Amino acid sequence: MKIIQLDDLQENAVDLIANQWMLITAGTADNHNTMTASWGGIGHLWNKDVAYIFIRPQRHTYDFVEKNDFFSLCFFEEKYRNVLKLCGSKSGRDIDKMNLEITPVVDEQNIYYKEARVVMLCKKIYYQDLDPKNFLDASIQKNYPQNDYHRMYIGEIYKTLEN
Ligand SMILES: Cc1cc2nc3c(=O)[nH]c(=O)nc-3n(C[C@H](O)[C@H](O)[C@H](O)COP(=O)(O)O)c2cc1C
Repeated sequence: MKIIQLDDLQENAVDLIANQWMLITAGTADNHNTMTASWGGIGHLWNKDVAYIFIRPQRHTYDFVEKNDFFSLCFFEEKYRNVLKLCGSKSGRDIDKMNLEITPVVDEQNIYYKEARVVMLCKKIYYQDLDPKNFLDASIQKNYPQNDYHRMYIGEIYKTLEN
């Protein structure tokens, strides 16, 4: 993979996240976990390129993002859709997500997948739990029948890779 500047990336960020989906991965070579996500954003805040991700507290990945300072976002070609479906429907508590058909690569304190088409390596810089008191549109609550409000993490995108 080659390092590129984030603003040289020729992608539609909404299509990338909403339709292509991403894997959010955190941990170490020996102890990591990954999950599929399609809610989030890429933008600019505090003079930094950032990604916003939203993780429900019951996800196994939540514990890994909590315990580590870094996480990655990986985007794949359509042929890997089955991996994303698996990682979006099964928990790392129940299946071995360290031996998927994709190959983890360690980059200093971060971990991503060799087969990814685009990778954003992020450092956690902020988090906040969504507060239903602040839902200005009442329809948002229907996403939370179990009141399992997401924790939002903002990650500084410090390296972008492209295959
Ligand atoms: C297309 C898709 C998008 C998803 N987006 C999110 C998301 O943004 N946030 C979240 O907490 N869970 C999301 N999920 C659910 C998790 O991927 C799923 O619960 C997964 O099994 C969690 O794995 P883990 O327990 O190993 O972390 C999504 C699932 C799919 C299929």
